[in-house]
Amino acid sequence: MDIQPNKITALVGLSGAGKSTLINLLDKFFHPDTGNIVLDGIPLKDYNTKYLREHIGLVLQQNHIFNGTVEENIRYGNPEATFDAVVRVAKKSFIHEQIMAMPQQYQTLALSLSGGQQQKIAIARMFLKNPPVIFLDEPTAILDAVSTEQIKNSLDTIKQNRTVVIISHSISQIIDADRIYVMKDGRMVEWGTHEELYSINGVYSDIFNAMARSLNIDKISKTLE
Ligand SMILES: Nc1ncnc2c1ncn2[C@@H]1O[C@H](COP(=O)(O)OP(=O)(O)OP(=O)(O)O)[C@@H](O)[C@H]1O
Ligand SMILES: [Mg+2]
Repeated sequence: MDIQPNKITALVGLSGAGKSTLINLLDKFFHPDTGNIVLDGIPLKDYNTKYLREHIGLVLQQNHIFNGTVEENIRYGNPEATFDAVVRVAKKSFIHEQIMAMPQQYQTLALSLSGGQQQKIAIARMFLKNPPVIFLDEPTAILDAVSTEQIKNSLDTIKQNRTVVIISHSISQIIDADRIYVMKDGRMVEWGTHEELYSINGVYSDIFNAMARSLNIDKISKTLE
């Protein structure tokens, strides 16, 4: 697999294919038993882990909110950030108004928020960090439709001129990728653009067609006519 700088690389595959595992390997949370990961020609294991993670923004599938206030959880993206900067990214993540409606506002305990709200906190944190490399593992999976559209728009803005790896089961977030990798049973089985992959009638087109059918596109498009 080759992740190109300043491009969007999407990872697709059924549950258990190994997508999240791959992100964990790229962050050095896991170390490979076999094979090599090389960043700009230098083995990833030779990089200082702290340095590496300072340049990577993560929004993961699982919860990564710690026991602290909303403000602390967002500021974790950049400990030097002012309160104004924290508010700015909360607005960009469409969570500011909900935070302001709570009695303790930015001093609310982040763990008391809903799963979707916590996900928006994680996205706000990444906006504050402003890293050159971003890994997104199902960033909008637990959000409602309106929030998903808002976050997709915010993410589309931050994706510009950055190296992005995105894992998603949703069509809209993968078809725009510069290159798509398809995983099956822990291996890369297909790669290319959406059009290239679709035309080979393999794993990708099976997944894509199932996604489209599950959306009930016929009925949706009739409604929108
Ligand atoms: N250290 C490990 N050693 C062996 N197997 C592992 C290890 N870590 C994870 N697995 C297994 O590898 C498989 C891939 O898991 P992973 O979380 O990467 O899937 P995924 O593609 O992200 O799926 P989903 O779409 O459901 O998030 C799982 O069956 C998991 O149990
Ligand atoms: Mg996963």
